[in-house]
Amino acid sequence: MTATGGAPTRTQVLVIGSGIAGLTAALRASRTADVLLVTKGALTDGATSCAQGGIAGAVGPGDSPDEHARDTLEAGAGLCEVEAVQVLCEEGPAAIRELLAHGVAFDRVRPAAGPGRSPYALGLEGAHGRARILHAGGDATGREIQRALVRAARRADRLVVREHTALVDLLVGSGRVVGAELLAADGRRTSVRAAATVLATGGAGQLFAHTTNPAVATGDGIAAAWRAGAVLADLEFYQFHPTALAGPESFLISEAVRGEGAVLRDEKGRRFLPAVDPRAELAPRDVVARAIADVMRTQAGRPVQLDATGIGRARLRERFPTIDAALRRHGIDWSRTSVPVTPAAHYWMGGILTDLDGGTSLPGLLAAGECARTGVHGANRLASNSLLEGAVFGTRAGQAAASLAARHADGSAATPHRHPIAAQPAGTAFSRAAVQQLMWSSAGLLRTGAALEEAARALADRHAPEPASIATIAALEDRNLLDLARLLVDRALARRDSVGAHHRLDTPHAPTQEDHAC
Ligand code: SIN
Repeated sequence: MTATGGAPTRTQVLVIGSGIAGLTAALRASRTADVLLVTKGALTDGATSCAQGGIAGAVGPGDSPDEHARDTLEAGAGLCEVEAVQVLCEEGPAAIRELLAHGVAFDRVRPAAGPGRSPYALGLEGAHGRARILHAGGDATGREIQRALVRAARRADRLVVREHTALVDLLVGSGRVVGAELLAADGRRTSVRAAATVLATGGAGQLFAHTTNPAVATGDGIAAAWRAGAVLADLEFYQFHPTALAGPESFLISEAVRGEGAVLRDEKGRRFLPAVDPRAELAPRDVVARAIADVMRTQAGRPVQLDATGIGRARLRERFPTIDAALRRHGIDWSRTSVPVTPAAHYWMGGILTDLDGGTSLPGLLAAGECARTGVHGANRLASNSLLEGAVFGTRAGQAAASLAARHADGSAATPHRHPIAAQPAGTAFSRAAVQQLMWSSAGLLRTGAALEEAARALADRHAPEPASIATIAALEDRNLLDLARLLVDRALARRDSVGAHHRLDTPHAPTQEDHAC
């Protein structure tokens, strides 16, 4: 049984999710509207806090938004939306200034830079033509951004925060999204009516057996938007970060480590990337991750080695204190020995289709951050563009939501909308671990039509309860993961060519007329 919580709460703007996109949207909207921000865990539980490398931005001398855009477009393998990329790169420096205004302490150059130099230490990461990554606390950039934004949110006058409360489904009435049905950690159900609802619920790394994402990354907003009938796009493009610590924990080892000079070796100690791409360890992420997967196939699945010994102990500790401490907890002294690494699911390029202001195909519904598909990432995201996307498009979505709220009252006569989903089969009950393993082996870095078809059949046979009857957040997440696994596999089957992060071993080339004919 599900407990219901009485009359709906009313607000002008409802924001769901509390990473950089959600907090930025909520802060911007609350300048002129009443905002309720709802988040599934504690305010700091999302993926933003885990971000290490940093936030990209054309802020250094000699850099320009055009150069940043060129790198973004090239990494995106020809599938980026050019206008969205221009917005990202042109508005990036202002978004970074806004973060500074909220008190984010980006690392500075020491001793202080002279005239004409950036006061901020700028790192280099894969596929960037120059060093343009701002970072904080060395490799604790996300934690610092989250700290500053949470503090700002706690101080904002018209912003109320509700933690430990998950999105069940969107409320749709008279053709608009008019709020959401929510489930609290204690099992109570409530509903919120709002003139504008902003989804900023992040990605779904928990679809895969190995991920750098936190436990809360179960794609709740994308699944609920789909059930409400919103258009989704690019779901076949899931980014696998090349270097997670091999083992059950999948701890992220930032790309910035390679930017500082670390190299990758096979188990015989040979570098393999120079033969794959002239940029070697700093090639785009999809190229590096795939090269690692290829080597791992030749060594019976055993991890490759990240060799950071050339960087030196003092620099490793100063620049990467979080990674250094985590490795020491695992008994690894990376100033002396290399680190066993493997790719892991990291970031979903696809999601809820949005325009440049976060607007979706459903009136009253906006989306920002990883759950949105703005088109800035194309088939492969450029390193450290995700925090930037959250800040730039979170601000835009917050502004647009506040404007909507000024024009529309909150919805009142709404009933939960159910997308016409095929009836659940009576087959095997959902097991999260089994689905994660299936997605890892069949819909991961290297895909084939046969494996995807087999996965589609296995997923079709699974069943999970309908959201309406679910009483725990974990069960709700399971349902969302099942919906999203089916959608991702379906889209990966439909795209028969290989591009960016979507790699089909059976059609590694660009599609031909004959491919399209059958
Ligand atoms: C990293 O530090 O390597 C991750 C940064 C990102 O995902 O862009």
